[in-house]
Amino acid sequence: MAGSSSGLRGNRWWRSSVGRVVAGVTTVTAVAAVLVAAPGADAAASTLGAAAAQSGRYFGTAIAAGKLSNSAYTTLAAREFNMVTPENEMKPDATEPNQNQFNFSSGDQIYNWAISHGAQVRGHTLAWHAQQPGWMQNMGGSSLRSAMINHIQKVMAHYQGKLAYWDVVNEAFNEDGSRRSSNLQSTGNDWIEVAFKTARAADPSTKLCYNDYNIDNWSYGKTQGVYNMVRDFKSRGVPIDCVGLQAHFTGGSSVPGNLQTTISSFAALGVDVALTEVDVTNASTSQYAALTQACVNVARCVGITVWGVRDSDSWRSGESPLLFDGNGNKKSAYNSVLNVLNSGGTTTTPTTTPTGTTTPTTTPGGGSCSASLSAGQSWSDRYNLNVSVSGASSWTVTMTVPSPAKIIATWNVNATWPSSQVMTATPNGSGNNFGVTIQHNGNWNWPSVSCSTS
Ligand code: XIL
Repeated sequence: MAGSSSGLRGNRWWRSSVGRVVAGVTTVTAVAAVLVAAPGADAAASTLGAAAAQSGRYFGTAIAAGKLSNSAYTTLAAREFNMVTPENEMKPDATEPNQNQFNFSSGDQIYNWAISHGAQVRGHTLAWHAQQPGWMQNMGGSSLRSAMINHIQKVMAHYQGKLAYWDVVNEAFNEDGSRRSSNLQSTGNDWIEVAFKTARAADPSTKLCYNDYNIDNWSYGKTQGVYNMVRDFKSRGVPIDCVGLQAHFTGGSSVPGNLQTTISSFAALGVDVALTEVDVTNASTSQYAALTQACVNVARCVGITVWGVRDSDSWRSGESPLLFDGNGNKKSAYNSVLNVLNSGGTTTTPTTTPTGTTTPTTTPGGGSCSASLSAGQSWSDRYNLNVSVSGASSWTVTMTVPSPAKIIATWNVNATWPSSQVMTATPNGSGNNFGVTIQHNGNWNWPSVSCSTS
């Protein structure tokens, strides 16, 4: 999409696409019907993931492997979320229980579940003072430094090319902005940058994040401490791509009025920002709305993850801090978050014209339906396409994106893309218009689409 982003302010996603050229039409029959099939204006998305995807963001949750056999849990999680963080299963004590003996069974279980339900995965976490295996807790000095490096290399090698983000370092600061003392810190002040450099070499395809709590209030010492580290890393070329604000507004803390300033200040350093572990005491609707608004107001705030599905799944279940009650019912905070996401947000993302865009080559499908593509928003690293289907209400759309581009999100549709390049989509009750986000990885050529009836 060409032009300045200011034209998008206040517009709903579909509305912003109306009037764009229908650049590709796959036709088996009913060409005319395709051309008049305008996207359903203002069809607000009905799930958190779909609503966030309209502005190129995600909405995620922490998932516990032990609950994947609970169908109430998985049904809800699959429906609502398109980013997954393993709650405990990719932490050092889980992945390297004995030195240099790795166990990825629970992490893989979550990864496979997420991917098969159209969600991306955020790795959490590689270097942390807590949840270390016993053998590591007793280490220090150069042997711990080597063990940390080995851990990062081996765990990242296992998930190479698969994860959207990795929390490389977690919770390394004190409340006053100084470094937290830990066995890792005792190996030398450079342990954090060594961790990030090791991580970049181990998997250049994933975004590398620093993640912490109590860094939401811009005027707080800890926020400034982390900010100064990220600024220093950027100025010296230490690889860092993102900052995660855990955003636990439980245990006595609440959403600060300057949260958006914090998010935009980190973003201005040239990193993505995300709210990574959100929970709010008693799920205050106003605080949930405020934190969501603060994110959608900043272009580089890429997504929000809540720290669990239902209140009963929360690590702080006594504070009922999540968006679904123990029975899986939507709480009022759910609606406040959904409404903010559906309001489209304001973005100042510098848009990039997809210079390589071509009319897609299309393959006719096997029935009397057709699919057409039109441009949605685009960003420096990704773009949205609107897919409009006509001719049948029961259809299967197949989309093939040109490598190395990848499909990373869809909304208003049931879709899977096991290979990242080929997606199969069927209606989910939202109608015949749906959206897809493609991470272009340098290839802006649009995908081919075909439609068949079943
Ligand atoms: C918590 C988990 O939710 C609990 O199940 C576990 O017992 C302790 O860790 N900051 C983090 C998360 O980065 O990994 C923590 O998760 C919560 C605080």
